[in-house]
Amino acid sequence: MNSNASIWNSLPVPAFIIDPDDRISDVNAAGEGFLNASRKAVIGHPVWDQIAVDAPLEEAFERARTYGTPLFVNDVDAGSGNRAPLQCALQIAPLVGYPGSMIMIISPRELSGRMTRGNTVKSAAQSAIGMAEMLAHEIKNPLAGITGAAQLLSMNIPAQDLELTDLIVAESRRIVKLLEQVEQFGNLQKPDFKPVNIHDVLDRARRSALLGFGADMTIIEDYDPSLPLAFGDPDQLLQVVLNLLKNASEAAGPQGGTIRLRTYFEHSFRLRRSDGSGHSLPLQIEIIDDGPGLPEDIRGDIFDPFVSGKENGTGLGLALVSKIISDHDGWISAESVPGRTVFKLSLRRAPREVAEHKKETT
Ligand SMILES: Nc1ncnc2c1ncn2[C@@H]1O[C@H](COP(=O)(O)OP(=O)(O)O)[C@@H](O)[C@H]1O
Ligand SMILES: [Mg+2]
Repeated sequence: MNSNASIWNSLPVPAFIIDPDDRISDVNAAGEGFLNASRKAVIGHPVWDQIAVDAPLEEAFERARTYGTPLFVNDVDAGSGNRAPLQCALQIAPLVGYPGSMIMIISPRELSGRMTRGNTVKSAAQSAIGMAEMLAHEIKNPLAGITGAAQLLSMNIPAQDLELTDLIVAESRRIVKLLEQVEQFGNLQKPDFKPVNIHDVLDRARRSALLGFGADMTIIEDYDPSLPLAFGDPDQLLQVVLNLLKNASEAAGPQGGTIRLRTYFEHSFRLRRSDGSGHSLPLQIEIIDDGPGLPEDIRGDIFDPFVSGKENGTGLGLALVSKIISDHDGWISAESVPGRTVFKLSLRRAPREVAEHKKETT
């Protein structure tokens, strides 16, 4: 490590070399800081005695070592005997030229920031939503009172003042709508998993969009007819697709636009969890529109609750979408340039026995 010692020690993230017997064979300066212990005190000691990780990593770690593949693990609590655990991302890779040795880099949450976004958003969303739910409940009753009073008033006032009572009623309705969306979160049940034909869901969403908010849109189907059944809650998935279609239609504006619904199978798409386990998400659904694209300033936050680029938006549509997809153990991503915005959903396929059984009984 001699000539590289200064690089090694300048690295602003804790890094460790782990030998084939899972002992620490080197640690950089940031690593000493992380462990709150000197290099001398930790070298030669079993790594998992020095660094406590709240996830069962052994198996994934061994796999990475055996196959020489890197391993990335997000959102684990890592600590040491000398300090409280911090939420971290771990990156582990085979050390080139030293068979069986691995390099492990630990990025505490502050540094890993965006990488851990998915989950931080979820918990931040949960507390913001929890608070809002409580408020929603408290506001609805007095609001009904206000609306009622305005309607009573409107019966006995001169015509030119009606505008004011109408305004009260209309604005109250708008608030009620917002509150109902907030309450939708609270009422969201765990998905009722069953084999789902995604194309049926897309068709239902497409038809209902064309009859309502998407009347000005052209919706093109680009389906892989051999797509296997997904595993999910058909009603919740319908809600997801409707929300995405609604956003695409609203982005297009009154002159309309084109939405493409695309499905395909991608065998190799996997989601890796923080405990090192993973599962396959081979069903891909894309909702592609040709509108102006995501507004630059909120691009990174669109899945957060109450983030909206619209004057009358609630910012709850995509927050609900991401909650439902994460309850499905699925994945959602967005990609956008003016003229092409893609929301991509990745879902699990139905377990084969269940799918077969379904076929026999229907
Ligand atoms: N297809 C899209 N094209 C452009 N912008 C979009 C699209 N989908 C979502 N957005 C942006 O993301 C924001 C958040 O969406 P959402 O959570 O559904 O809340 P809302 O629709 O109430 O504003 C929208 O206000 C809009 O600015
Ligand atoms: Mg919306």
